[in-house]
Amino acid sequence: MKKKLNIGMIGYGFMGRTHSNAFSKAPHFFDLPYEPVLKTVCARNADKAQAFASQWGYENIATDWREVVESPDIDLIDIASPNDTHYEIAVAAAKAGKIVMCEKPLGRNPGESEAMTAAVEAAGVPNMVWYNYRRTPAVTLAKQLIDEGRLGRIFHYRTVFLQDWTISADLPQGGAGLWRLDSSVSGSGVTGDLLAHNIDTAMWLNGQIDEVTAMTETFIKSRTHTLTGEVTPVTIDDASLFLARFSNGSLATFEATRYARGHKALYTFEINGEKASIKWDLHDLHRLEYFDYADEGKLRGWKSIHITDGDHPYMKNWWVPGLQIGYEHTFVHQAADFINALGAGTPASPTFREALATDYVTDAVLRSAKSRQWEQPKKV
Ligand SMILES: NC(=O)c1ccc[n+]([C@@H]2O[C@H](COP(=O)([O-])OP(=O)(O)OC[C@H]3O[C@@H](n4cnc5c(N)ncnc54)[C@H](O)[C@@H]3O)[C@@H](O)[C@H]2O)c1
Repeated sequence: MKKKLNIGMIGYGFMGRTHSNAFSKAPHFFDLPYEPVLKTVCARNADKAQAFASQWGYENIATDWREVVESPDIDLIDIASPNDTHYEIAVAAAKAGKIVMCEKPLGRNPGESEAMTAAVEAAGVPNMVWYNYRRTPAVTLAKQLIDEGRLGRIFHYRTVFLQDWTISADLPQGGAGLWRLDSSVSGSGVTGDLLAHNIDTAMWLNGQIDEVTAMTETFIKSRTHTLTGEVTPVTIDDASLFLARFSNGSLATFEATRYARGHKALYTFEINGEKASIKWDLHDLHRLEYFDYADEGKLRGWKSIHITDGDHPYMKNWWVPGLQIGYEHTFVHQAADFINALGAGTPASPTFREALATDYVTDAVLRSAKSRQWEQPKKV
């Protein structure tokens, strides 16, 4: 019998569902050293929490996260609630000796993120942040190809994350579902919400970012606040664009917006190296586009690799070659990798400290947009 890993899930929204699904599926598809148990789900509304618990198979519910953090029945606290809750819950969970998994970004500002990192490190508890896109098999394959030196020297990194759901001026800000528009809850707009993903992937694939110069814009200046009914200024960045220099000498452009009409969640990156280039697109996430200059001239061109074979990352654990997987599997992979690392007693990437590096870059981006100068991210 495998030892049980009792999970306390904080939040049952979008991410509460992806994480619950991940912990349920992971042991069916991966051979794990522990058996994850959906023990307690926590949200403030008891009826809704109970309905979620029944649907997803949680053994019990809580309406105050402190109960879950203090419970001797819980081994792992998984923070899937809005950004203003991350700091307090993570620090309390670490002090209580719990394993801590947290959604991105770590905190609303570098101060919160640093305190969260210090807390898990002081307590010596395993920790990880859910930058799930790394675990898309095509993105993991891109990492392998880069690490094998197939691209050679990297010249360019180009990435966007485009959405269009906040264009209407009638959309309110704040409250359930719309907390992302209220900077007191979210910390920032698209910089921390979307670009954090691009930055995490970019630094994983291409190394450290040394300096950035940015511009941000808030297109709709005031909106009705859902909780008060009053029209108040919007203080998030609706769009954020920046240039960056990596330590390896490559140059980058990053862009995120919620005002790109026609785009729902278009996350793409392209990397141009001396020997080869790579392109990836979230809307076609099971494909990796690859151009190899070493190919025979008359056959040289972009290849579209369908990432479904047993020798592609994670794919031998799924179906048969040719059958693809999707978005939710990135979370299943992350849960499986984390539980395997727990068994091996090794850190699982990205740790809080690695995620802190991403928060330092988003902080430098926001500082640069204000100062209109190049800014250096603090080093971890
Ligand atoms: N990794 C990703 O791709 C990804 C995608 C979306 C969101 N996120 C991150 O996940 C987190 C949650 O986002 P979401 O989209 O799931 O939000 P959501 O609004 O869908 O769900 C948030 C949940 O938290 C609960 N909640 C709020 N305050 C709480 C409290 N004090 N105690 C307990 N529960 C509380 C809400 O009831 C709700 O169930 C955010 O930090 C966000 O940045 C990450």
